[in-house]
Parts: sequence; C-alpha cells; structure tokens
Amino acid sequence: MDGNGRWAERRGFERSAGHRAGMETVREIVRVASELGVGWLTLYAFSSENWSRPKNEIDVLMSLPEKYFARELPEAERRGLRILTIGHLERLPRRVRFALERAVTRTASNTGMRLVFALSYGGRAEIVDATRRLLRVQEQGGLEPEALDEKMFAAHLDAPEMPDVDLLIRTGEEQRVSNFLLWQIAYAELVTADRMWPEFRRSDLEAAFDEYARRERRFGRTSAQAQNP
Ligand code: FPP
Repeated sequence: MDGNGRWAERRGFERSAGHRAGMETVREIVRVASELGVGWLTLYAFSSENWSRPKNEIDVLMSLPEKYFARELPEAERRGLRILTIGHLERLPRRVRFALERAVTRTASNTGMRLVFALSYGGRAEIVDATRRLLRVQEQGGLEPEALDEKMFAAHLDAPEMPDVDLLIRTGEEQRVSNFLLWQIAYAELVTADRMWPEFRRSDLEAAFDEYARRERRFGRTSAQAQNP
C-alpha cells in the first residue's frame, strides 16, 4: 500500500494525513474485494523496515489498527471475513496487539474472505522464522532432513494455510517487491498501479483483475502445455 506519504506531501499535508487517507482506502478495498469474491487479501500495512521511520509517523501508523477495527470489525463479522495477521506482532504496542488479537479471535470461525494484515512484517524474516520452527521440530527428533520438502516448509510460515499468491498489486508507481511474501509470490502475477494508495479505488482493483485475467500463467510450462494442462 505504497504512496501515502507522497500523496499527502503533494497536497501540502503531513505524511500522517496520507496514512489516515490510506486507512479509508483499506476500508473501501476490503469491502469491494469481499464483494468480488476474493478468497484471500493480504495488506502490507507496516514492514520490518518501517520501524526506522520518525517516531511521530510510527505513532500515527500504530494508532490506525485500533481505529480501523473499532469501526470495521462489526461489518467484517457480518460479511463473514476471517482476519489473520503475519509478522512480528510482539514488537507492536500492547494496545495494537490487543486490537488485532481480538479481531482474529472474533472472526476465527468465519469462512469468508481471509483478510491478512502484515504488520512489522518482512518476507526474509518470515522465512528465517519458519526455518527456526523447523529446527525446533528437528531438535525434538521429529524431522529427517530428507523429509523436508516445500510443502512442509510452507506449513511453518506465519500463516500456514495461506495459498500461493496469484496477484500482487503494488501501488505508488514503484516496481519493487519490497520484502513482501517472498516465499508465497514465487509465481504471482505482478501488476503495478499508477496510483498512490490513498487514491486507489474500486475501478483500479477491477483494472488489476482484468490485467490478471489477460495474463497467461505457465508455471514453467510451454504456452501450448499451459493452454491444455
Ligand atoms: C507506505 O507508504 C505505507 C505505509 C508505510 C503504511 C500503510 C498503512 C496504511 C495504508 C493504513 C493501514 C491501516 C490499517 C487498518 C492497518 P509510504 O508512506 O512509504 O509512502 P511514500 O512512499 O509515498 O512515502
């Protein structure tokens, strides 16, 4: 969800105004994605690297999850959304963790769209964490090196049920992956939106889906094989 800061600065606002506007976009896009039948939506809300930002900007960002859930949790429950988190939650202020944990618990038995918030998240850190979990299993005598395969590795990531990513949308006119879901995006289609996140709308999401639908996903096969699997 890149471009909050630039969106604000271009309008002569403080960067934090961009993050607040970005939260409004989160509200709209979550609603639209669930209406359009998206199975999993993962939002990159705060990266491991974002901890190096000025304290006042971090404070504003840390105030948003509570505000968001205070307003949106009832609707998320009505829509049957299931909320999940990935990342190093233990680094977040206690009240933010509490708001997140409450949302996760309250929606735990829902079966609608999975809405994942990546907070204090880094793709490399997630891979290291998965490795650490596997080493613990090994320590307890439960893992032969030869038995380790991709499926078992994926089962030790932060959200083991998360499927591979089909479509990665990057806003903010950038063409980078920025340490997002590194394992899960192995075969993702990348779409970059020429929009700052606060101005990303339903029509932009639909345009990204249209672009995705035009792509031919080959997963290493030839074009002919991909068309007749
Ligand atoms: C990157 O834009 C965006 C972020 C660091 C924060 C994203 C967070 C939100 C959109 C709100 C999250 C809401 C909830 C409910 C958790 P940037 O500031 O790096 O933009 P720039 O590249 O233009 O400076």
